[in-house]
Amino acid sequence: MENFISHNPTSLHFGKGVIETIARTVKPLGSRVLLVYGKGSVKRSGLYDRIVAQLNQAGSTIFEYDGIQPNPLVDDVDKAAAIGREKSVDYILAVGGGSVIDSAKIISITIPVTHTAWKFYEYKAKPVKAIPLVAVLTLAATGTEMNPFAVLQNPETGRKDGYGSPLCYPVHSFLDPEVTYTVPADYTAYGIADLIAHCFENFFSVSECSLSDRFIAAIIADAMHWGPKLMQNLHGYDERAAIMYDATMALNTMTGNGKGGGDWGVHGMGHILSLLHGVPHGASLSIIFPAWMKYLNKKAGKQISQLGTLVFGDNDVEKTILRFEEFFTQIGTPVRLSQVGIGEEKFEEIIQLMIRNKVEGRSYKLTEVDYRGIMELAK
Ligand code: NZQ
Ligand code: ZN
Repeated sequence: MENFISHNPTSLHFGKGVIETIARTVKPLGSRVLLVYGKGSVKRSGLYDRIVAQLNQAGSTIFEYDGIQPNPLVDDVDKAAAIGREKSVDYILAVGGGSVIDSAKIISITIPVTHTAWKFYEYKAKPVKAIPLVAVLTLAATGTEMNPFAVLQNPETGRKDGYGSPLCYPVHSFLDPEVTYTVPADYTAYGIADLIAHCFENFFSVSECSLSDRFIAAIIADAMHWGPKLMQNLHGYDERAAIMYDATMALNTMTGNGKGGGDWGVHGMGHILSLLHGVPHGASLSIIFPAWMKYLNKKAGKQISQLGTLVFGDNDVEKTILRFEEFFTQIGTPVRLSQVGIGEEKFEEIIQLMIRNKVEGRSYKLTEVDYRGIMELAK
């Protein structure tokens, strides 16, 4: 077991009705708020009106930045930070999925500085301070609501990268499973795939930690139990709640304790698919992970077998991979590149960008030969 420090400063407000407690919870943070959201789902669902009404009643001054896109852009972060800086906001309220909350995390550390947010991603600048961030999660998937990470795209540099700073934990995160009722079936399935992929990435670490491994397996088993039920009943409270909690636990740093950091090679490959072809994040992972496991079944066989034993009570490597692949298909998330319109004629460009961006796993290093082998199995 590796040494580790465990500290998570986010207060999680979970359950039916927590949305109504936002204004009174955030009151001590101040009255000037930068409200950040995406392309309109929060308006269509009525969530925006519910939150704005509360804030108005509390006497808040609201500034807004909307239009954050899935696979979010650093450009939006810079523009939103400029508003936050000019208006001297006291805190940021991010209402949305991973893309909105990730953007808001970087907005929160960019407001106090004068350079572009991308400097953090290039490690040319270190954040010094963060404007407090409050998150209202509308889509269960990434775990961003209780972790210090943020993933942004920069089309100019041709990169989609993750960044983490202890300053980026939300102060409060509000998770009402009812808010996720309006997430359509496809994104619901991608979210389940993403949370399971986070379990995989942490499991395939260099080190073992028996409790973290069992915790990871328990989250996967829970998601595999509730996932298909949720796909049958998108307005089921218990189903939404279970998956929402699974997603938070899958990437709030707990599952990494004692394991020395995850592998993250599949996420790196998936980011290239999102960057070049707009593949939704979770879909990129349900495509690449089964192929990655098949390709690495010799090198990673011992770990796949251990995972199979913990999740299915069966140590057979091939059956374990097949069960995961069948599960992804059952919930309706793709397992082949052809299902998202990526034919073999597009492979070369994808592989070249993987080479340029030096995509690799921490435990299982990847090279050009490996990208080609994995893509071939995913086609
Ligand atoms: O933009 P709006 O209109 O809000 O629509 C969104 C978007 O089109 C919609 N949506 C969200 N909540 C909804 C809803 N539609 C109806 N009802 C609701 N309640 O769903 C679409 C996808 O939203 P997005 O935020 O992009 O999805 P997700 O939460 O899966 O976030 C994906 C992003 O997070 C990054 C991914 O790379 C990707 O950029 N990740 C962040 C991580 C982290 N911070 O720890 C780790 C992950 O591995 C991941 O890389
Ligand atoms: Zn992910």
